[in-house]
Amino acid sequence: MTDQYAVIGNPVAHSKSPLIHAEFARQTGQDISYTAILAPLDGFHAAVERFKSEGGKGLNVTLPFKREAWDLVDFHRDYAYDANAVNTIKFVDDKMVGYNTDGIGLVRDIKDNLQYPIKGKRVLLMGSGGAAYGVMEPLLREQPEQLVVANRTLEKALSFVGHFKTIQNIATRSVSACPYDALGHAQFDIVINATSAGLSGAMPQLPDTVFVPGALAYDMVYGKTTPFLRFAQEHGARIADGTGMLVEQAAESFFIWRGMRPQTAPVIRLLRRKAEA
Ligand code: ATR
Repeated sequence: MTDQYAVIGNPVAHSKSPLIHAEFARQTGQDISYTAILAPLDGFHAAVERFKSEGGKGLNVTLPFKREAWDLVDFHRDYAYDANAVNTIKFVDDKMVGYNTDGIGLVRDIKDNLQYPIKGKRVLLMGSGGAAYGVMEPLLREQPEQLVVANRTLEKALSFVGHFKTIQNIATRSVSACPYDALGHAQFDIVINATSAGLSGAMPQLPDTVFVPGALAYDMVYGKTTPFLRFAQEHGARIADGTGMLVEQAAESFFIWRGMRPQTAPVIRLLRRKAEA
């Protein structure tokens, strides 16, 4: 019997996950179906239970339900607990096991696809909302020399950094929080935009001098040249949108469910071609 998977969100019609997982299944010869479920804003829990009772094997969870998924699952694995968010659920016997693959997806895209090592580098992470929570621990595990979290609202950045400072065995020498106007002339090798500013055509107020020559500017939003990416390009940085992260986080979910690693490069190319068409 074909194993059933789905992405659940609201809205969800725009999701690329069904296309990505169909490609992974084709590549690996796995017999799965993968659909999109639109859950009512007050009906996430019921929609998950229904999918599970109908024999579903696993779910990807997207906005705005990642935190609710964290509350709902029976167990948190890997990075899910400290991320305060779950984007992948695996149904095991009668239990729901929650994972967060977003940060793994980001780190793989930066290191493996874009070939920027993170270890020993100076990293600036912009934002302190859900998107930033999802990626912080995997970033720290890469042991950057320095990780600065900048946010418009300083209190949120301070509590964000405080949350992750309590994690054991973090080897990064320095983790700190500041507002954008306190960045001064500090320079970074990798600048990651985890804010939602680009969705409304805005960008965080970054100093002109923030990029070292050849720095990587990464926007977690996919399929869009955001104002941040345009700014970065004008200031000599190499730019990347979140397409690679999207495909890599999906590949990690696929691995959790199916025990197989699909090839991501052809799927990233496919999404880019479709975005240009
Ligand atoms: P998400 O879950 O998508 O991260 P969120 O929790 O609402 O959404 O967080 C959005 C992030 O984008 C926050 O860090 C927010 O900054 P504040 O904490 O100061 O609100 C940031 N953000 C949104 N619009 C922004 C803008 N125009 N300039 C700078 N930061 C912005």
